[in-house]
Amino acid sequence: MKYKTVEVKNVLRTQDMFSNLLGRSQITPGLGLIHGPAGNGKTTTVAYMINQLTGGGSLPIYVRCYATDTPSSFLARVTKELGSEPLFPLRKSVDFIINIMNEQQISLFVDEADHIVGQAKTMETIRDIYDATEQPVILIGMEEIARRISHRKQLFNRISEWVEFQPADAEDVHMFASELLEDGITVGEDLLDYIRVRSGGEVRRILIALEKIERFAKANDEACIDKEIWGDGQLFLNHGMNQGKR
Ligand SMILES: Nc1ncnc2c1ncn2[C@@H]1O[C@H](COP(=O)(O)OP(=O)(O)O)[C@@H](O)[C@H]1O
Ligand SMILES: [Mg+2]
Repeated sequence: MKYKTVEVKNVLRTQDMFSNLLGRSQITPGLGLIHGPAGNGKTTTVAYMINQLTGGGSLPIYVRCYATDTPSSFLARVTKELGSEPLFPLRKSVDFIINIMNEQQISLFVDEADHIVGQAKTMETIRDIYDATEQPVILIGMEEIARRISHRKQLFNRISEWVEFQPADAEDVHMFASELLEDGITVGEDLLDYIRVRSGGEVRRILIALEKIERFAKANDEACIDKEIWGDGQLFLNHGMNQGKR
């Protein structure tokens, strides 16, 4: 398998969303939200997009949250990304973050935000940082995050751009196969469709299946694998409930 990020629709939507945030008018607030099920490519997409950015200002910073985060550990991580050791009291870290983000026009991406969305103090600090800088702040999380943020009106009302990651469709699965499989190996339509349905469109599972097919193709010296050639080998881990369905 090749190692690259495929520009499927979710990736393009995310790029659009970020450029809308950067180019928004003064009356539009600058919080963004990226949400959707695990394994659909949110983190990969954001990392890819940040790496693609060149010139025209400073690069955004990216932090991910952890289950054990506190306001202090969260702020320490952001501070470190901006090049400083944590400052105490915490208010000093906040001031430092605000100054640097303002001076250098830096956007902030906060991944795995599910872990902090229930923490009033951290969320209010994020709002403080946004209000003082008006630089784009993008929260990234799972399905539930939109609903959970909706209870925080102050924050929710500042979200002007959002992307909900959709499961991969037939066209996306096609792109993954044609861009990630080694040259010369192709997968039949019937098998691609089977992969799309059985994976529920989850990118992680699609790539696992494609990798198995690629290994099979090489071992058997086959160039095109369709459902018939693949036979009844396992492509997905069954959890018992849908055994026999394949
Ligand atoms: N557009 C893409 N191109 C290539 N690989 C991708 C793409 N999107 C996701 N993946 C792969 O799928 C897996 C899950 O993606 P990830 O970004 O961790 O999802 P999420 O953050 O939504 O849980 C990763 O291993 C990543 O390599
Ligand atoms: Mg992720």
